[in-house]
Amino acid sequence: MSHHTEPASGVDSTSSAPRSVPTSDAARRIRVVVLFGGRSGEHGISVATAGGVLGAIDRSKYEVVPVGITPNGQWVIAADEPGRWAITDGKVPEVPASAAEVVLPLTVGDAALRVLEPGRVPTVLADVGVVLPLLHGPYGEDGTVQGLLEFADTRYVGSGVLASALGMDKHFMKLVFAGHGLPIGPYAVIRPGDWPVRRDVVRQTVETLGLPLFVKPARSGSSLGISRVVSLDDLDAAVEEAREHDPKVMVEAGIAGREIECAVLGGRGGARPRASVPGEIVVTDETRHGFYDYEAKYFDEAAVELTCPADLPDDVVKEVQEIAVRTFEAIGAEGLARVDMFLTPEDGVLVNEINTMPGFTPFSMYPRMWAASGMSYPELIDELVQLALERSTGLR
Ligand SMILES: Nc1ncnc2c1ncn2[C@@H]1O[C@H](COP(=O)(O)OP(=O)(O)O)[C@@H](O)[C@H]1O
Ligand SMILES: [Mg+2]
Repeated sequence: MSHHTEPASGVDSTSSAPRSVPTSDAARRIRVVVLFGGRSGEHGISVATAGGVLGAIDRSKYEVVPVGITPNGQWVIAADEPGRWAITDGKVPEVPASAAEVVLPLTVGDAALRVLEPGRVPTVLADVGVVLPLLHGPYGEDGTVQGLLEFADTRYVGSGVLASALGMDKHFMKLVFAGHGLPIGPYAVIRPGDWPVRRDVVRQTVETLGLPLFVKPARSGSSLGISRVVSLDDLDAAVEEAREHDPKVMVEAGIAGREIECAVLGGRGGARPRASVPGEIVVTDETRHGFYDYEAKYFDEAAVELTCPADLPDDVVKEVQEIAVRTFEAIGAEGLARVDMFLTPEDGVLVNEINTMPGFTPFSMYPRMWAASGMSYPELIDELVQLALERSTGLR
């Protein structure tokens, strides 16, 4: 890292504020914009994550500005009330629309977060120190927001444009994994034009993958739009369902194995990324959920067990951690990512996917794997913000 600029440090941008600020000096706290919600199907999950983060972030060190994006894509100042953004009674929370819109800076050298209200002069709300984009899915986890933040050299937590885009797109993700010699399972891609025009060719290719199949939107998350197909008679319906989320569809051979996950954190000061102890997902009630689907992930705690640390021999733990770090490096991830794998009897570890903004409530696997590795949820949030402050802006 040859190029390094000082982070914008909140209110007093003319001073050379030290990086670790005295807790008594509120004006020197680093301003963190917590960005959540968004246009994807995972809006509510993102909001729930924000609730967790707002409740745990160290307020003596960071001044928090919650900014929500409504499901329609309006940017608004959101309530700084952690309890309000939780999943309650099986309903996911939502960012409400507002008359006042928030605009992030787009011009280099400008760090001002502005509020626009109809019939009013725009007001400068604050200077942005770091953005914490807690967004899942397209228009958030896929490089779009990251690109916006790059425009004005705004610092943000997590992966940059390309790594975010790769982490979102299961097709290009797999190409990059394969290019790095990472172990992956067999798959086929149904490109947007293929299904309406070349369905027979698609079917022939897909049939070579055997059964069961997993049919997925190429760019989605939280298992939305994913089906487990046990008979080719059900293929069309599964593809149609996936296409409701994304015109590009992935079809994968079903992998029989244990579902193992590993949390990765970027290294400090150019060091290698760090891997947590692995965790395991066990769907205990297979009559209700054929796999780790959306309902099982968020609404049916009794049907899944998140075991952390996973019960694995030491050499397998080492292998899982090594593959997780290599996967992180393969896409050029930064800050954080969760790497999901299958542990199979015949083929050993296979990488399923990488998530550049994994579920991040205090109960989610990513924070739990760090907790089991000795880093608490508030410490983890702190570490992520510090990693964002440490890295240089621009091409890195
Ligand atoms: N090829 C596969 N073989 C077996 N199970 C799979 C396969 N792909 C996905 N699954 C199951 O579906 C879940 C969701 O799939 P995943 O690819 O992780 O999508 P998402 O990005 O929505 O989390 C996985 O956690 C796993 O339980
Ligand atoms: Mg997944």
